[in-house]
Amino acid sequence: MNRREKEPIAIFGAGWVGLVTGACFAELGHEVTVRDIVPEKVEKLRAGGVSFFEPGLAELVERNRERLRFTLDAAEAAQAAELLFVCVDTPPTYSGDADLSRVWTVIDELPSLDRRAILVMKSTVPVGTGEKVRAALETRGLSHIGYVSNPEFLAEGGAVRDFLNPDRVVVGAFADADGDRVAALYEGMNAPVVRADIASAEMIKLAANAFLATRISFINEIANVCEATGADVVRVAEGVGLDHRLGPHFLRAGVGYGGSCFPKDTSALKQLASNSGYHFQLLSAVIEVNELQKRRVIKKLEKHLGRLRGKTIALLGLAFKANTDDMREAPSIVLASRLLAEGAHVRAYDPVADAGDIVRGMSSCESMADAVRGADAAVIVTEWDEFRSLLTDEIRDSMSRPLVVDGRNLLDPEAAASAGFTYEGIGRGVSALEALPETAERDTEFAE
Ligand code: UDX
Repeated sequence: MNRREKEPIAIFGAGWVGLVTGACFAELGHEVTVRDIVPEKVEKLRAGGVSFFEPGLAELVERNRERLRFTLDAAEAAQAAELLFVCVDTPPTYSGDADLSRVWTVIDELPSLDRRAILVMKSTVPVGTGEKVRAALETRGLSHIGYVSNPEFLAEGGAVRDFLNPDRVVVGAFADADGDRVAALYEGMNAPVVRADIASAEMIKLAANAFLATRISFINEIANVCEATGADVVRVAEGVGLDHRLGPHFLRAGVGYGGSCFPKDTSALKQLASNSGYHFQLLSAVIEVNELQKRRVIKKLEKHLGRLRGKTIALLGLAFKANTDDMREAPSIVLASRLLAEGAHVRAYDPVADAGDIVRGMSSCESMADAVRGADAAVIVTEWDEFRSLLTDEIRDSMSRPLVVDGRNLLDPEAAASAGFTYEGIGRGVSALEALPETAERDTEFAE
């Protein structure tokens, strides 16, 4: 094939991965048909609306309207394309395995194409899925359809940038010619292309996310030890990250990782290993550390406030990270639920995410100032830039107690102290578990 030739592309699933993939391929000049099963979503997309927040995506969809079509009809999408990208979600089941039911639905719905097309798996799937899909295609009489694994490595909030400027492109294929056609889509992006067998391509995705999650749990445990020993994890991470063998990324200590990928993919990899008879000890610890990390903020609050019953806690940020409205597996959900269970009043503000229906009993606020007014503590849960301006006289004076628990180490502890706030970061040298300082107010409930 002429490498500059544009391929007609179908995308199955207009979720976050599917829409970013479709819009970016359209931006690269391909004709793209995006198929989803939810009528309202398709209607909205046809009218130019994107139902979730991803910087730059709505503009990209708008700019490429002529090359982007949206449909509910699987056959229509498949008939229009040479490359059929599977971008459906693969959520965890109760057993921790990935739920592939949406992938199988796509295979079932493929029309009996009378020409060679290639099914390209972007969804994150367990190792071995490619073999199973291959077998399912044979059973359906679609042995002429090729299969390629081409996992996504898109971080929410920067997904368009990640798609168009990837660190690497991974292409696993049964037939080299199929891999060539998929690899050609990324030509000109100046990124290395890793060609692999299907199982290895599938494993690269799971291993990359598990490794990133491991770095986060590692630095969170270092932070916890910093608190017990008087070191500052921010300086420690800086010093560790300058080692070229380690690098600076994913060493930000905080309230634990969340999102649609890390929790699901670590659990799926752990389960995949255990289904094959291997106990993945390290990954089990990574997951457990993360669960405990989400709860440590409670101890920090209790250190200053005593029992939390009746206290008002402002949660600043709800999304699992900044620049997204995604609430999937957000640490804020666990934190808010624990606070409510302790009898605290929880007032939350996020610039874009809405958790109204997810956590019952929490009040939603319109602004940071509104959330912290009268609060006994403000907890920074998501690293939104606007929370950097927390340390004002107005905010301090509006709070019942000027206590800030900075779950993302967003603020400078010294600046916080000189602005008159009591400050607790994550791993910033003061033990969250140490005895109450003399100056802290003990309330009667705590004294009981
Ligand atoms: C991730 C991967 O980065 C991406 O390659 C993959 O394909 C999908 O999953 P995403 O879930 O969007 O992307 O978010 P990411 O930026 O990786 O952050 C994941 C979580 O880790 C967030 O909750 C974030 O706040 C947390 N995190 C990240 C830390 O706590 N510390 C860090 O140093 C980095």
